This record gives sequence, structure tokens and C-alpha cells, in this order.
Amino acid sequence: MKNNNIRLFIVLSAVGGIGLLFYAKQHISDTGSNTGNSLYLAHCASCHGPLGKGLRNLYPSLRKNPYLSTKISELPCLIRQGVKGKIITEKGTYNQLMPPFKTFTSAELLQLISFMQQCWSSSSTTELTPNVIEQWLDSCPHE
Ligand code: HEC
Repeated sequence: MKNNNIRLFIVLSAVGGIGLLFYAKQHISDTGSNTGNSLYLAHCASCHGPLGKGLRNLYPSLRKNPYLSTKISELPCLIRQGVKGKIITEKGTYNQLMPPFKTFTSAELLQLISFMQQCWSSSSTTELTPNVIEQWLDSCPHE
């Protein structure tokens, strides 16, 4: 009887230990490799919210935003140049300032945009490449 209890204890500990390892591995790869999410949280979430929902008529929502589907080719330039002046969207009119993020590299833009596209795009997503981002940046409108 006593022996059985010990055996049970060992089995349960082993199962728990393995479970914990899996959890830790998952958790580390979630936070460690997900640069796009980190970039979003560090640079965009303060206005557009951690879940991209925006804020009233001040900051537009990025969820199902056309910039993540039909207008995605304009997104790298928008981020690099910021937005000023009144904009009219399907969701309403906004007239605040979005600062330009001039120092983002094309690699960072790729990570950031891929993250937002995977999470919030309304259309099925195509995988972006560094080349595509570079091309889009080459055709930024002049400020
Ligand atoms: C200081 C606040 C602020 C930060 C930080 C910010 N934005 Fe914005 N963003 C705005 C505002 C305000 C607008 C709307 C501009 C206006 O009112 O003219 C906007 C507009 C946008 C739009 C266009 C939305 C539409 O429907 O037309 C996109 C896309 C966007 N931001 C993405 C981003 C991303 C990506 C980041 C991070 C790199 C970011 N923003 C960081 C305030 C911010």
C-alpha cells in the first residue's frame, strides 16, 4: 500500500513536471521570438490599444482595418511618415496626430506588419517578404 502511494506520487510528479516544461517552452517561444508583437506593444499600443481596438474618435481601430488588407501596400509608408490632418474612414473622422516612425528598418516593418496582419486582417493573409516591403517603401508619397 505504502509502496503504491510512492509510485503514484512519482508518476504524478513526472506528469506535472513534463506539463510544466511544455508550458514554459510554449511561453518562452511566444514572448521570445515574437518581435512583431513586441514592436507593436512598444510603439503602437499606447494609442491604438494592446488589442488594436483604438480609442473612441481619437485613435482609429486597426482591427479589420483596410490598411491590413486592400491598402496594405501603403502601410509601411504610413508608419514611416505618420499621419497628420483630418482623415475620414469607414469608422468615422479622426483629427489627431500620429507621429512618424522614421527609424524602423524594413526588417522591423516586416515583423510588425506581419504580426498585425495575422491578428487583425479581414482578408486571408499573404506572406510578406523583405523585398515586397522594400518595394512599397520605394514608392512612398513625398511628404
Ligand atoms: C501618439 C499616438 C499614436 C501612436 C503611438 C501610433 N498611432 Fe497610428 N494613428 C494615430 C492617430 C491619431 C491616427 C489617425 C490620424 C488622424 O487623426 O489624422 C492614426 C492612424 C493610423 C492608421 C490609419 C488608420 C485608418 O483607418 O486610416 C494606421 C494603420 C496606424 N495609425 C497604425 C499605427 C502603427 C502600426 C503604429 C505603431 C508603429 C501607430 N499607428 C502608432 C495615433 C497613433
